[in-house]
Amino acid sequence: MVSRVIPVDTFDLVIFGGTGDLARRKILPGLYRRYLAGQMNADSRIIGAARAKNTVEQFRDLIHAALVEFVPKDRQEPADMAAFLAHLDYVAIDAKEESGWTNLKAILRPNVVRAFYFSVAPALFGDLAERLHAHHITDAGSRIVLEKPFGRDLISARALNATLSKYFSEAQIYRIDHYLGKETVQNLMAVRFANILFEPIWKAQYIDHVQITVAETMGVEGRGAYYDKSGAMRDMVQNHMMQLLCLIAMEPPYHFDPDAVRDEKVKVIRALQPITSAEIVRGQYLAGKDDGGYIEHSQDPNSKTESYIALKVEIANWRWKGTPFYLRTGKKLRARYSEIAITFKEPPHSIFDDANGWKPNVLVIRLQPNEGMNLMVMIKEPGPGGMRLMQVPLDMTFADALGADADDVPDAYERLIMDVIRGNQTLFMRGDEVEAAWAWTDPIIQGWEARGDRPQGYDAGSSGPEDALMLLHRDGRRWREIKE
Ligand code: BG6
Repeated sequence: MVSRVIPVDTFDLVIFGGTGDLARRKILPGLYRRYLAGQMNADSRIIGAARAKNTVEQFRDLIHAALVEFVPKDRQEPADMAAFLAHLDYVAIDAKEESGWTNLKAILRPNVVRAFYFSVAPALFGDLAERLHAHHITDAGSRIVLEKPFGRDLISARALNATLSKYFSEAQIYRIDHYLGKETVQNLMAVRFANILFEPIWKAQYIDHVQITVAETMGVEGRGAYYDKSGAMRDMVQNHMMQLLCLIAMEPPYHFDPDAVRDEKVKVIRALQPITSAEIVRGQYLAGKDDGGYIEHSQDPNSKTESYIALKVEIANWRWKGTPFYLRTGKKLRARYSEIAITFKEPPHSIFDDANGWKPNVLVIRLQPNEGMNLMVMIKEPGPGGMRLMQVPLDMTFADALGADADDVPDAYERLIMDVIRGNQTLFMRGDEVEAAWAWTDPIIQGWEARGDRPQGYDAGSSGPEDALMLLHRDGRRWREIKE
């Protein structure tokens, strides 16, 4: 198989916060990989912008060090790195000051794609948008790229959207949810809408329930200050998990077109039923043998922030009425493991005498590690002795199926940045989606804050709090095992 790399148009990409952690870890290494793949043409430029009064050489040195640290060793040809670094420029700029903006304006070229990546604290989003506009640096074709948090509730999300829309149209705003850039997440759409097999049975009549798991082994080390104000609901459910749920539950869009896809996703979010406190379990990890618990990493010894959440949600529409979706995500769990598991119902009638061995069909879509798909099906147990049933996996690990091409699959950031340059918003969140997601999460969070609910402690390295098991047991179901 030959991977097809289509170069994107010439661009000037300005990265505000160009010396920061995200730029060093993800954005620049990602662009370097796209450069190696031949997707970035010779005239394109990446302009770092930050407060520090760096020279271009100092910025290039800093990014060189980042590439050495974050790019695999076999991709570190000195000649390649030097050629890539030659595309880098730098402007010292302060989002809150007027200086520096004319310098930025002076180096940007007409007739190339202009994109501005706001890799800065969300409190600065409004300042950057305003100054870009005031200094006439943007035009109708310019794009801005932002990352969550997009507010911390409906009111603040609306305020942010209102500020941005003073200076930019929705078609210019690219809100990144990096989960949408993951290969397997996009595969959800390919599997559903490019095959006839699944769609006819993709409904409550045939699907018993859906489990979405995003388990992490890392804790909140070093991010306590941010995380304490966020928690798993705001950090993972309101965005990444909700996006996964949308891609599973949405109606087929009429075309693979940005607004057609996003129209269908927003309908799912609006159809989410409100949930009660009985349908949510919140957890906080406890100290382990060699490591502190959540509380030790938090700034607040009394923190009630959840590092784990499990919940049951129903979608009130014709397709899904009666099929629960169980979501769980947490830090410091047994394994780093993310999957979506769709469990189908029993056949209406068994023709086999010995149906004791019967197990449901389960379609498992693994996001990480080992991206792939697995369909559990029933077959006859081989050998004599009559018709005994057994369950086997039809397993497809994408790395095996794609062979050498699997190494060249762009990571989420690479793909999304290239989509910004191409002007394709399909994998970005629209303002109304973000607001609809907050409209659903707000009352839930307000409920536990008003009651002063405290999350249940769970052991680091476990599968989460005990009560999470009950959430499914009550419905006669069980969580799938979290394992490597
Ligand atoms: C981020 C969250 O958006 O996603 C982190 O803020 C989380 O808390 C991360 O760890 C998970 O992303 P991934 O790609 O490692 O699953």
